[in-house]
Amino acid sequence: MVQPVLKWAGGKRQLLSEITARFPESHERYHEPFFGGGAVFFDLAPAEGSINDINRRLVNLYRVVQRQPERLVEENRTHEHSDDYYYDARDEFNRLHAIDDKTADERVREASLFIYLNRTCFNGLYRENQDGEFNVPVGNYVNPDWVQAERVRAVSEALQDTAIHNDDFEYVREAASAGDLVYFDPPYQPVSTTADFNDYHAEGFDRDDQRRLRDLAVDLDEAGVRVVLSNSPPVAELYEEYDSFEVEIVQATRAINSDGDNRGEVAEVIITNVPADERRRRELSEFTD
Ligand SMILES: C[S@@+](CC[C@H](N)C(=O)[O-])C[C@H]1O[C@@H](n2cnc3c(N)ncnc32)[C@H](O)[C@@H]1O
Repeated sequence: MVQPVLKWAGGKRQLLSEITARFPESHERYHEPFFGGGAVFFDLAPAEGSINDINRRLVNLYRVVQRQPERLVEENRTHEHSDDYYYDARDEFNRLHAIDDKTADERVREASLFIYLNRTCFNGLYRENQDGEFNVPVGNYVNPDWVQAERVRAVSEALQDTAIHNDDFEYVREAASAGDLVYFDPPYQPVSTTADFNDYHAEGFDRDDQRRLRDLAVDLDEAGVRVVLSNSPPVAELYEEYDSFEVEIVQATRAINSDGDNRGEVAEVIITNVPADERRRRELSEFTD
């Protein structure tokens, strides 16, 4: 198990055991098309496979961590702890984002600013305005660690044989083949209009995307790929007519950030085509038979 480098809303730390219990005992490669903070990937530390996220800054960060961990740690040591520095860093982060064709140094700088802002911003949130600018205000921390040398090195190691994509989740249609495992953790469909968890990215994720994802899951199932998906209960009905998918509701303590403010018991749905007798944690009755 490896500790993630980012705090990420919707992070799956509270649900890890419920999710991984439904993974097959053995599989070929592992793919995670909605990577975010990668809590499940880092818990599993799979040997081979692919990760993906539509967020360009996030993918740049993981590519830099994978290829240049020492250069990144060195850059991380240059930051300072003050409100003025935070807002200058945020401006620079947004200027770099607007550059399409970045130099290698600019990519390292952007990755390092991302870690710094993630560790020092309010509640560890990630939020963009309509123009795609990161706009979270500074947080109040006594001694934040944005260098994270050991985590960066461990994450780099864990990513060595993983392909890193910056695409829509459908890339996995090509990337996965029979025997592989795919874990989908898409943005939550809000349970009510006030509970809007879709704020990860300026472009959002709507009901049509949830249907597109369901169609992809069905196609992967037919191709012999193992699929596990977690989301909020309203997506359950999209899978109900498909016999090969089991839909289960579990209770989870969900935190908006890894410091644990804003916790609450929420129902989460886990959908999978992994048969019960092929799972890592089988029902107790199967062991007593
Ligand atoms: C619920 S979060 C994943 C959290 C992750 N499991 C963790 O432990 O931190 C959903 C992620 O999906 C990404 N995303 C949103 N729309 C996407 C799309 N169409 N294709 C791929 N990724 C997308 C967001 O940028 C966000 O990082």
